[in-house]
Amino acid sequence: MKRHRWAAVAPLFLLLLVLRPWAIARGADESPTIKSVMKVAFKDGLARKVATGKATAQEQGEFLKLSQALQKLTPPQGDAESWSEKTKGLVDAVQAVVDKKDEGPALLRAATNCMVCHDIHKPK
Ligand code: HEC
Repeated sequence: MKRHRWAAVAPLFLLLLVLRPWAIARGADESPTIKSVMKVAFKDGLARKVATGKATAQEQGEFLKLSQALQKLTPPQGDAESWSEKTKGLVDAVQAVVDKKDEGPALLRAATNCMVCHDIHKPK
């Protein structure tokens, strides 16, 4: 009897194994998580590219979209007020770069300071 139950459950486990990476990959563009935004927008240098004026208009637009997505997410640590202040600063700074404001790049360099945000919002 027991053995039959396992036989029924095993294919479900296999299905989960197949679907999990798919769900993670999908999260990168459709419903981003903070981790997926970090990977695409921060770790791989897109933030630096935009802040140093080396990004194309399309890359700037993509970074703006990802920053806005970040703003709507909830950090695993730190209070909501601090998060909303930091991510609003980020979105405003990206917007300033997109609008070609003189202060844009400096604002964005400050707003993309990894440690300032990680110290408060990233679990150790
Ligand atoms: C506005 C805040 C903020 C800024 C700025 C920021 N991060 Fe993060 N980052 C986070 C948070 C919050 C997490 C933790 C996410 C979690 O554990 O769910 C994180 C996690 C990460 C991770 C781990 C992702 C993973 O899969 O576990 C990497 C890598 C990372 N950040 C890179 C960077 C780099 C590089 C920079 C600077 C160029 C940067 N981040 C700037 C908020 C920020």
